[in-house]
Amino acid sequence: MQIQSIPHHLAIIMDGNGRWAHQRGQPRTIGHVKGTRVAKEIIRECSRLGVKYLTLYAFSSENWHRPQMEVSLLMKILRRYLKRETENLVKENIRFSVIGDFFRLPEDVMESIVAAQNATAHCDGLQLIFALSYGSRAEILSAVKTIAQEIVENKLRPEDIDEATFKEHLFTKFTPDPDLIIRTSGECRISNFLLWQMAYSELYFSPVLWPDFKKADLYAAFRDYEKRQRRFGRTSVQIENLFN
Ligand code: IPE
Ligand code: IPE
Ligand code: MG
Repeated sequence: MQIQSIPHHLAIIMDGNGRWAHQRGQPRTIGHVKGTRVAKEIIRECSRLGVKYLTLYAFSSENWHRPQMEVSLLMKILRRYLKRETENLVKENIRFSVIGDFFRLPEDVMESIVAAQNATAHCDGLQLIFALSYGSRAEILSAVKTIAQEIVENKLRPEDIDEATFKEHLFTKFTPDPDLIIRTSGECRISNFLLWQMAYSELYFSPVLWPDFKKADLYAAFRDYEKRQRRFGRTSVQIENLFN
């Protein structure tokens, strides 16, 4: 498959596991299990295609409100994923990290995350970021609180706060903004994901439920992305002159 322009940072809202299971008369948890398999395949393909950053929205801060049984099953899947996959990540030179309210996660999950982060810290291929217990509004609020505290302590002056300063206080301080955001399952909303970071991201909504998402669907998104002209407020002519 020939793709001219692979997004440097791809972010995916992996949605539709529950509906996929429901369509088959299965419990929602079966959808999450299948969804995890799909995630593994898409991670490998992104790594192969040369995507540099891949952020996967795996569990939102609002998902804590789901039935207790579903939440614990999701934590179980996560535990198992980290245990089984860390070695493969190292083999594939993939660096793993997490954004979100880490401390709300069960202690053993936190430990497994730290272990996976440490084991893959030297990897310089794909940077795989799981958004876990992640909510963008909470992330922004926490940045605002830290900045306010720094002002109180005279470490920062209000007039010195710019976009770069703000970014430094986000979970994503080491990550460039996403170039492309894919949401599966036909829902056309953002659900509290990377609100600051997506200011100029391209958005792609796929009707495919996440457990059915195939490499071909990823290529379709990339082909669509490739056709877009990112203007960042400028005119088409300006952009064309910039690249010619
Ligand atoms: C996405 O699938 C996975 C998580 C949010 C953890 P859903 O579980 O939201 O599936 P639907 O949207 O109910 O089909
Ligand atoms: C967003 O999906 C979060 C993840 C994919 C992890 P949700 O299924 O939680 O979003 P809403 O509730 O439909 O907006
Ligand atoms: Mg959903």
